[in-house]
Amino acid sequence: MPAPVDTFGRIHDSLRISVTDRCNIRCFYCMPEEPTNFQPRAEILSFEEIERFVRVAAGMGINKIRLTGGEPLLRRDLPVLIEKINGIAGVRDIALTTNGVRLAELAQPLYDAGLRRLNVHLDTLDRERFKHITRRDDLPKVLAGIDRAQALGFGPMKINAVAVKNLVESDIVPMARFGRERGIEIRYIEFMPLDSQSLWDRSKVLLMDDMLAMLRAEFGDLEAIPDQDPRAPATEFRYKDGGGTVGFIASVSKPFCLNCNRIRLTADGKLRYCLFAIEEMDVKELLRSGAPDEAIEARIRENVRAKWLGHQINTQQFVPPPRPMYAIGG
Ligand code: 5AD
Ligand code: SF4
Repeated sequence: MPAPVDTFGRIHDSLRISVTDRCNIRCFYCMPEEPTNFQPRAEILSFEEIERFVRVAAGMGINKIRLTGGEPLLRRDLPVLIEKINGIAGVRDIALTTNGVRLAELAQPLYDAGLRRLNVHLDTLDRERFKHITRRDDLPKVLAGIDRAQALGFGPMKINAVAVKNLVESDIVPMARFGRERGIEIRYIEFMPLDSQSLWDRSKVLLMDDMLAMLRAEFGDLEAIPDQDPRAPATEFRYKDGGGTVGFIASVSKPFCLNCNRIRLTADGKLRYCLFAIEEMDVKELLRSGAPDEAIEARIRENVRAKWLGHQINTQQFVPPPRPMYAIGG
């Protein structure tokens, strides 16, 4: 079946599933220090509910799945879910975005469950700054997790580094060097207005062009990689000296909404057509009330049809979404 198409002609074949809204660290650009509004257990979709949803979505041609959180590795028995999803006909790709804190202990079971694609969230190699950003002293654990995953032979790993101005300037080059040494693509993500405390404003975004200039000054020229997958959100570059690739998610300076192919399922069973969507549509009730597959399929199509052209971060009209990042799922 052809994947759902929105009213702007964008094909939607990618689904991001948040498996929990909880997290074991507290990055200030996402979470408050003491979050009080985590979803009660009963509101979170069970593995069976997620599996059924994915089966319906895969039957519609939505064949790329990414698991996110909060921190997905806090969800008990996550490898079991990965194995289930891997076994669904039509699923072509499954990936995971994690903060890496529990990766050293879980890399093996994740690998055994068939996971090969990992994105690890890491902004800095400086222990003090890591502590400042995440309010936890877990840098050694994250580094051990990356080591472990690389030793096990996961596929090409990526690191997501959130770029906040007047904070991580001195991390840009060391992170790049780390990526070059280890064959990991660093993806710098422009700070987006998704924090729970309304800290964001434009002046706090470290922009792609500024970071690119820092990399050029250190490593020499980089060449733009012509869009391999025009719908991937990252703008990618190759170091001319053979040092691998680097990417930018330039949501603020170069919005990529025109190529968006994603929908999102929150941990509590709401469908969102955009990270910044104001409206969401419920699927949990459908899943729990014995609705037939056709009703779930219709809800997915309805959500994709309702999709807007894109966020308006760069305009006066921009309204931040009602949920912060951890409650949406990146
Ligand atoms: N702006 C940009 N990226 C963010 N992330 C979390 N909060 C923000 C924010 N306010 C990133 C993290 C995570 C990914 C899903 O989103 O790096 O890995
Ligand atoms: Fe897609 Fe929304 Fe992200 Fe734009 S902001 S790329 S429309 S999910």
